[in-house]
Amino acid sequence: MELLTLSRAARLAGVTRGVLQKMVRDGELASFEGRVRIDALVRAFPDAALEDNAELARVSRIKERAFARRVYERALPDKEVLAARLGALSLELAEARARAARFQALLGGLRQRLEGQALGAWLQLELEAGMAANEDERRVLAQDGVMRVMAPHVKLVPDGQEFFVEGADTVLDAALHAGLGMAYGCSAGNCGECKARVVAGSVRQVRHHDYRLSEAEKAQGFALLCCCTALTDLVLEAKVARFAGDIPLQSITAHVRRMDRLSAEVMQLELLTPRTNRLRFLAGQSARIELGGAVATWPIASCPCEERRLQFHLHRLPGNVQSDYAFDRLRVGEAVQVSGPVGDFVLREDGARPLVFIAWGWQGFAPVKSVIEHALAQEAAESIDLCWIGACAADHYYPKLCRSWAEAIDNFRYTPLIAGAGLHGEVTQTVRGALAAALRELHPLAQRDVYVAGDRAQVAASRAYLEEQGLPPAQLVSWDAHG
Ligand code: FES
Repeated sequence: MELLTLSRAARLAGVTRGVLQKMVRDGELASFEGRVRIDALVRAFPDAALEDNAELARVSRIKERAFARRVYERALPDKEVLAARLGALSLELAEARARAARFQALLGGLRQRLEGQALGAWLQLELEAGMAANEDERRVLAQDGVMRVMAPHVKLVPDGQEFFVEGADTVLDAALHAGLGMAYGCSAGNCGECKARVVAGSVRQVRHHDYRLSEAEKAQGFALLCCCTALTDLVLEAKVARFAGDIPLQSITAHVRRMDRLSAEVMQLELLTPRTNRLRFLAGQSARIELGGAVATWPIASCPCEERRLQFHLHRLPGNVQSDYAFDRLRVGEAVQVSGPVGDFVLREDGARPLVFIAWGWQGFAPVKSVIEHALAQEAAESIDLCWIGACAADHYYPKLCRSWAEAIDNFRYTPLIAGAGLHGEVTQTVRGALAAALRELHPLAQRDVYVAGDRAQVAASRAYLEEQGLPPAQLVSWDAHG
């Protein structure tokens, strides 16, 4: 019986991996060693299997809209890559046919020997039942074949992350689109930092590289991920940053790409890093930026899946040199010095628990946005709850984005709350009151991972309240504006 990886099964069914993981955990979907049987998938999602790729396309479109960001270039692979992928698939098919022919011959011989016996009659019945075509299963298998050509699946060892290589992407680009903290440097075939070993499957070089792999490395199957694409599903041995300390401090010169006013007081500054010198960071981390001669640390509001684009949500602070410069004099195209990353407000990748995000005021939303976008790119969260608690309505400076997440993604809930002026004064009672309202439907907290971001007093009061309510300290990740 054909088995599918959870990621592939989720794509075929048009749901996220987190949803399938929950179904497996709840016993609603049978799995074998982390894989799903096609017949079980068809039983669980009879409609999705009958709609060809329409469901998958719908989910992709919704996600792109919900992210309110660049639409992925879903270019077709070039014709040579397409031909090579079809060639690899045909080879697999030929091997499967040869194996099937051998089994058929074996069964034929067995049937002859058992003719006239009860065991022979049983075998005949079972064979006929097995041969009876199941239309839905055949359709899923056919879709799986198309998907393998259009978007081969990659699994990383030893950590187990998974992603798809869409269209014409290199393996490195595809991993970055999926928000993974891959090790890399120049992205142009010069430094060798993206070197990884192909444990299973095959790759094809699609870009020239000056970096020379040694003969021993070639013999062991090493490849440069920034210069090759996947021809088949792959298993790769590759380094992936998972913790804040895994990424070295970098300093780069970026350029202002755009400046968008999200509200009267908040501007989204988007910087573009050089193609061959991007900033490596984990979603939720911060960077120091220099504007008008002043240096300040801001959370990066975008996720690493945005590749060269770094977003910051700058707040107007009258009298502050950097703020005055950013709001009054900064121009598109200007060079900006960026260094980082710093901070450890990053997604815990060890837990499969539902995620709760609590963003306080205008300060807490940017790091939360980055981690949420990363979690959405990973498709691993079973559910996401975002509570944005402001002192006044103006603190919710990006409601459109939050509402579009909630409307487009089934397991995403958004709760905006106004806590009143007390949020900036004696915060403890205000925080406790707001959290009690926000978390009313999310108990028991012990089964969730909670991410809190805001100013120092808000975060400290939240931590005390959440732990009092039974949240284990290890399941709380926090960021504060002074941290
Ligand atoms: S990132 Fe430098 S060679 Fe690939």
